[in-house]
Amino acid sequence: MKTDIAQAAGMIGQKVTLAGWVHARRNLGKLVFLDLRDRSGIVQVILGPALREGVAAVKTVRPEFVVQVTGTVQARAGGRENIERPAGKVEVQATSFVILNQAKTPPFEIANEDRQANEELRMKYRYLDLRHWRMLRNLKLRHDVIRFIREYLSARDFLEVETPYLTKGTPEGAREYIVPARQFPGKFYTLPQSPQQFKQLLMIAGVERYFQIARCFRDEDTRGDRQPEFTQLDVEMSFVDEDDVLAVVEDLLTTLLPAVAPAAKITARPWPRVPYAEAIKKYGTDKPDLRQNTNDPDELAFAFVIDFPLFEFSAEEQRLVPTHHLFTSPKDEDIAMLDRDPVKAKAKQYDLVLNGYEIGGGSIRNHRPELQQKIFKILKLSADEVEERFGHLLEALSFGAPPHGGIALGIDRLIAVLAHEPNIREVIAFPKTSDGRDLMMGAPSELPKAQLHDVHIDVRKVAP
Ligand code: AMO
Repeated sequence: MKTDIAQAAGMIGQKVTLAGWVHARRNLGKLVFLDLRDRSGIVQVILGPALREGVAAVKTVRPEFVVQVTGTVQARAGGRENIERPAGKVEVQATSFVILNQAKTPPFEIANEDRQANEELRMKYRYLDLRHWRMLRNLKLRHDVIRFIREYLSARDFLEVETPYLTKGTPEGAREYIVPARQFPGKFYTLPQSPQQFKQLLMIAGVERYFQIARCFRDEDTRGDRQPEFTQLDVEMSFVDEDDVLAVVEDLLTTLLPAVAPAAKITARPWPRVPYAEAIKKYGTDKPDLRQNTNDPDELAFAFVIDFPLFEFSAEEQRLVPTHHLFTSPKDEDIAMLDRDPVKAKAKQYDLVLNGYEIGGGSIRNHRPELQQKIFKILKLSADEVEERFGHLLEALSFGAPPHGGIALGIDRLIAVLAHEPNIREVIAFPKTSDGRDLMMGAPSELPKAQLHDVHIDVRKVAP
């Protein structure tokens, strides 16, 4: 077993075997200096005259070669400690040196944390891009955040439940990805835009407190804060009102920050709650950036936007559509208004906003089938359509559904803000390009005719 470089930093005078990638190479007279990199740090390795002359490998080694070095750890004169990448204060005087594997010259420099490297190249060679310290740090932050959330919610009796990816469409406002069903010609599964209906069904099942680190799929145009597949922290609770859900989120994130981002400073506590109408009037947006100093990368301004209207008028569709989704409950005092003037009804709905990004959204749901039916009616869904798309949910609600509500946080967006990254792509190991391609794997791709035939698909070629 090798010793991690970070560990070697504390082993002055001892003999160690290190292994990793050559970060840089310098020749200085009779000596060769290598910067050796592994996941934990970077350390300078000195290959003395004996190795330089006697070991052929020393002559051929180049950046990104995989090597193993045995030698003695010694203090490095004038060495500088770098807390982010430890082992700057020591160096290793090598006594043996082996190349474990060679490397072609990478398409971009790894040693240079070069943000400017061509986007297409970074995506095509993502496994090399991930060798950058910054990317590794982002992956680690992501791991730490998700681990913390799991532990926090588990300690409060939330149950993590996995819900299906092959399912039937649930409307969340985006186009769905579809998967052909081989055994049912002409029929399809869809990939979930979120586990919305399943988490409500889990409440009907009596789970009471649920969470999931859930992958969601939405076929929409990609932007800096949008990917076709992304991750939500999905939460649902029974016997709660809006305040209960918001309290869980506020406590979870304020407890999380010191653990994963100690430099973070929260602008205001408790987090401001801004009614939707006020947000639009005062800031012209429903995701206001409430930071006092937008130049301070460590400032985090959380806010809940509340009191959304239940419906909005879609000029495109010439009808009312739900502001959030069609399972959201109106405010109790506005239920009477549904018959008279539904556009005026407010919803038990909230968004979580951070530094101008929408990082979460949720609501209290309709747990009584009559109210849910009424919402479907206002949205002008025909009886057939309701039966076809939501019959199972209405039936489930009629078997003693408890009052329930929840929220989903966009994990990628949260982590991007914490990592000071402008694009969520930087905190996802294998993201898609802005036009939805995976350049490394070559997806999407054509499929062999036989495979398509199996799932009853005939591709009609369309001119590009
Ligand atoms: P909503 O659609 O608001 O709610 O999604 C919740 C959060 O998920 C994040 N998000 C995205 N992140 C990256 N790429 C995307 N394409 C993307 N789309 C959404 C956002 C958003 O706030 N089922 C409901 C939640 C509920 O009612 O409990 C839902 O999915 O940060």
